[in-house]
Amino acid sequence: MRRKFVAGNWKMNGSLESANALVKALVASIGNSPAADVVVCPPFIHLESVAALVNGSGVSLGAQNLADEEAGAYTGEVSGAMLKDVGCEYVIIGHSERRTLYGEDDALVSKKFLRARDEGLIPILCVGESLEERESGAMESVIARQIDAVLTAAGVQALCNSVIAYEPVWAIGTGMTATPEQAQDVHAFIRSRIAAEDAAAAEGVRILYGGSANAANAATLFGQPDIDGGLIGGASLKAEDFVTICAAAA
Ligand code: PGA
Repeated sequence: MRRKFVAGNWKMNGSLESANALVKALVASIGNSPAADVVVCPPFIHLESVAALVNGSGVSLGAQNLADEEAGAYTGEVSGAMLKDVGCEYVIIGHSERRTLYGEDDALVSKKFLRARDEGLIPILCVGESLEERESGAMESVIARQIDAVLTAAGVQALCNSVIAYEPVWAIGTGMTATPEQAQDVHAFIRSRIAAEDAAAAEGVRILYGGSANAANAATLFGQPDIDGGLIGGASLKAEDFVTICAAAA
């Protein structure tokens, strides 16, 4: 049995005050021993403050990105060691917004994946196709390419000791959720791709769905056999909605 996993990706939203208020509300509702793993990923600048508020609770901390280099003259970057230092356990890697808006390709995503692992952070590796790729029939080849890049660079054990998030680009922030069947098909495809390398490891890896998941559709999505939770954007900014989503993962 894979333990369910729900992560909130706050993206570039909120103020110090709203971040603190949100996490206080989550900690109060989720308590110390939630039935699923629960993670919040605030903007870098709010990590330290949120870390103090989740300390000792059932909510863990993640970052949304990290530098591909270890340390040094990289103006504006944040290293994995710095994230670890402020209390992060997880880091999102290869989010589609990083891939499309900031030009992160498979090579850079793989490098960041390895860097995260070297620093003792657990990557949440995002993959997913655009609408054009889906409609042109390229969906499986795109996802296979994204998964294989990390499989080749890091190996199957490293991939399976991380978390994978399937996020169809056309569903992110659009209100157009993949149907549970569409999502399940891709999750099963990802798992089978990994199983070709190591069947037992593939059985254990958690694959989250992301893309307009919300309090109303989470339970159905999480009820699919290969969907092990969610990476939640917009709905993670409302404490009540995120708590409902976490409860749907229990
Ligand atoms: P969304 O974002 O839930 O707002 O669609 C998901 C994500 O980008 O991780």
